[in-house]
Amino acid sequence: RQAPQMDLQRPQTLAEAQHQAAACRRCGLCEAATQTVWGEGPPDAPLMIVGEAPGDAEDLSGRPFVGPAGQLLREELARAEIGPTWLTNAVKHFKFTPRGKRRLHQNPTRGEISHCRWWLDLEREMVRPKLTVALGASAAFALTGSAAPLTPRRGRIEPATDGGPVLLTWHPSRILRLPTPDQPAARAELAADLATAREVLA
Ligand code: URA
Repeated sequence: RQAPQMDLQRPQTLAEAQHQAAACRRCGLCEAATQTVWGEGPPDAPLMIVGEAPGDAEDLSGRPFVGPAGQLLREELARAEIGPTWLTNAVKHFKFTPRGKRRLHQNPTRGEISHCRWWLDLEREMVRPKLTVALGASAAFALTGSAAPLTPRRGRIEPATDGGPVLLTWHPSRILRLPTPDQPAARAELAADLATAREVLA
């Protein structure tokens, strides 16, 4: 009989954590998703960026932030010259509803976010970032425990439940969902927040 997940030894390294997360069955999202999408970056990165959950492209490739939202984020990170960054998500499996041949993204529930905190907490203990940037409300909830609306909190630094500072900003997918004329202003806010992150880390 296979040992239940809870009996597995607590991972001691990021590689062990990634290996165990690949077999995670803590919530139901693993059933339909292709694979666990673990974080990536230099393990000693001073900055951790936390998104919501992998999307369609990330689910297929196994890497975070490789789809359209990821491209926007990576462009802004390069423009901000932000330096070494650990990129990850609050939830490590893609959540979707099938619609014909397409898979429509669904937001993870608070329950799913809380289950996946096990992995995020491990990642945070091992990477030990000096600063974390939360992209959107799901990441803000995962990190701070507060589900209060993001709009008044955006651009501010709040304490994470583990004590570290978290800068809250827009999720790049939200920017891409805005009407085209509204996108540049929101993108400028994301850029300003990344500039703040750079200053905090300097
Ligand atoms: N959106 C996210 O929140 N994370 C990803 O990895 C990709 C898109």
